[in-house]
Amino acid sequence: MTAARGAPDPASDRNDATREGVTMRAVVQDHYGDVDVLRVDERPVPEPGAGEVLVRVGAAGLNMADWHLMTGKPYLARLALGLRRPRATTRGEDVAGTVEAVGEGIDRFAVGDRVFGSASAAFAEFVVARADRLVRTPAAVDDRVAAASPMAGFTALHALRVASIDAPVGDVRVLVTGAGGGVGGFVVQYASARGAHVTAVCSAAKADAARAFGAHEVVDYASRDITQGPETWDVVIDFAGARPVSAWRRVLAPGGHLVLGGGEGGNPIVGPLDRALPGALATLTRAARVTTLLATTNLPDLERIAADLESGVLRPLVARAYGLDEVPLAIEDLRGAVHPGKLVVVP
Ligand SMILES: NC(=O)c1ccc[n+]([C@@H]2O[C@H](COP(=O)([O-])OP(=O)(O)OC[C@H]3O[C@@H](n4cnc5c(N)ncnc54)[C@H](OP(=O)(O)O)[C@@H]3O)[C@@H](O)[C@H]2O)c1
Repeated sequence: MTAARGAPDPASDRNDATREGVTMRAVVQDHYGDVDVLRVDERPVPEPGAGEVLVRVGAAGLNMADWHLMTGKPYLARLALGLRRPRATTRGEDVAGTVEAVGEGIDRFAVGDRVFGSASAAFAEFVVARADRLVRTPAAVDDRVAAASPMAGFTALHALRVASIDAPVGDVRVLVTGAGGGVGGFVVQYASARGAHVTAVCSAAKADAARAFGAHEVVDYASRDITQGPETWDVVIDFAGARPVSAWRRVLAPGGHLVLGGGEGGNPIVGPLDRALPGALATLTRAARVTTLLATTNLPDLERIAADLESGVLRPLVARAYGLDEVPLAIEDLRGAVHPGKLVVVP
C-alpha cells in the first residue's frame, strides 16, 4: 500500500478521511483477453459503504471464474459482464483477511476481526466486501486455507445437496471427475466424509492428492475411459466437462443422478450450457436424472464451510501461493491444471 497522505488507522473503524488519497496495489484489466491483459496498478483504497466491510487481504483464492471473467468467455457471459470490455476491471472472487474498517449498519464485525468469504476484486491489498458474504475465520485456520474455500465450498455443497448426499449416506457409489482439482477435491472430501464410496477420476499426477482427499478408488482418465463401463455409479459429479451426457448415462446405475458441474472444453459461445440442454432433455424424457449446477455465494453455506474447516471435515490443499505480480502465471497454472487442489494469491 502506498500511503499518499497516511496509512489507514486500524484503531478507527469508520475513518474515511484517514484513507483519503491512500492507494493500494491491485490487479486490473481494461480489455478481455489472455493473461497479458492483466497488470498491477495503483488504485485508491476503496471505502466501505452501508452494509460493507473493508478487508485487508491476507490471501485471495483463485478460481476458474477468474479466467472466465478475464477472457469474457463463454461469449454469452458478456451480456452480463460487458459486451466490448469488462465493466468490472478488477479480479479475484474469494478472500480472507482482517477487517480494516466497517460501513454504516455493520455490527457483526469490528476492526481487527479475521474474516473470509466472497468479494469481487480480491487480487489487491484491500477489498470491500458485503458483510453478508463474510464470516469469521476460525482461529486455527490460516488465511490461505480460508481464501481457498468459499467458491469451491459453495459449489461442492450445492453438488452434494442436489445429489442427496448432503447427510450421512449408506451404500452410495459416487464418481467425481476433476477430483484432483479445487472443486472436485472438495466434493471428494465431503462425499467421503458422508460415508459414500468415492471413485475419483484425475490425472496420474493427482492420484495421491485424490486419495488424501478421501477417495476409495482413483482412475487415471488417460489410461481408462470410465464411461465405457462395466461399473456403474449412483451419482456422477462431473467437474471436468470432457464427456457428453450420453456417455455418462451408460455408467449411471438405475435411478442414478448425473450432476454437471463444469469444464472449460465446451462450446465457446454458450460454454457449459451445451450440456445443460441434453441434460434437461434426458431428465424430461426420464432417460436419466441430470442436474446442471450453478452455485452461488450464500451466508448459511459460508458458515457451514467455516465450521467444516474448524472441525477438519474440510482440509483444503493449497498447492501454491502467488504474489500480485504473479497472477498471470497463477491463472496459466490453473488453466494448465499444473497443481493439485487450490491456488491462492498473497498480496
Ligand atoms: N457450476 C458451478 O457453479 C461452478 C462453480 C465453480 C467452478 N465450476 C467449474 O468447475 C470446473 C472445475 O473447477 P476447479 O476450480 O475445480 O478447477 P481446477 O482446480 O482446475 O480443477 C479441474 C481439474 O480437472 C482435471 N481434469 C482435466 N481433465 C480431466 C478429465 N478428463 N477427467 C478428470 N479430471 C480432469 C484437472 O487436473 P488433471 O487433468 O491433472 O486431473 C484439474 O485438476 C471448472 O470448469 C469451473 O469452471 C463450476
